[in-house]
Amino acid sequence: MNDSDEVGVGPWSGPWPEDDRYDPELLAEGDRRNVVDRYRYWRREAIVADLDEHRHDFHVAIENWQHDFNIGTVVRNANAFAAKAVHIVGKRRWNRRGAMVTDRYQHVHHHDTIDGFVDWAQRHELPIIGIDNLPGSVPLETTTLPSACVLFFGQEGPGLSRAARDASRLVCSIAQFGSTRSINAGVASGIAMHAWIRDHAVIPR
Ligand SMILES: C[S@@+](CC[C@H](N)C(=O)[O-])C[C@H]1O[C@@H](n2cnc3c(N)ncnc32)[C@H](O)[C@@H]1O
Repeated sequence: MNDSDEVGVGPWSGPWPEDDRYDPELLAEGDRRNVVDRYRYWRREAIVADLDEHRHDFHVAIENWQHDFNIGTVVRNANAFAAKAVHIVGKRRWNRRGAMVTDRYQHVHHHDTIDGFVDWAQRHELPIIGIDNLPGSVPLETTTLPSACVLFFGQEGPGLSRAARDASRLVCSIAQFGSTRSINAGVASGIAMHAWIRDHAVIPR
């Protein structure tokens, strides 16, 4: 692989920048991280602080009673669409592989129980919107999501638990047309977050 095929940039050339958002080690050695160009050479804390200025008003949450392998993808999507934060409900440990280190730039909170999560959402006046293709769900495609909300995903296998459904103000389904019962929660999270983006985000021209 030649240098031009590599992701990122090599060592800084030219006068050393004064701005303390820059990381001296990255400036000296190059920045090969999976970040957008405007954050090249920035310290991680500086990137998080800048993202915090622009995060959207939706949060995402996922149940984690069986170490769901989709959580990494949910975190990566939450980072891409600038969700305010990710909430893991259930077991604390989750498989970080699919996150591709985006969890370093994302606020990830843990709630031991559904009750604890519901309590948090109520204190922050955030309606919980379940995302699942359950009986009684309404089509995501024809529903406008609230601008401030938590999108709540279930696990591979059981989907949203009974308690999670009861905690949801409404449950939205993603239309499917094939033979499979469902798509995976990681993919569903990208579709649901992008539905929020289509409803509410300011799209750069
Ligand atoms: C693999 S699904 C399992 C549950 C599904 N209710 C079933 O009957 O098979 C895991 C999670 O992905 C999300 N999901 C998968 N397919 C979906 C769809 N068509 N609409 C909305 N959410 C979906 C939901 O959050 C769901 O809890």
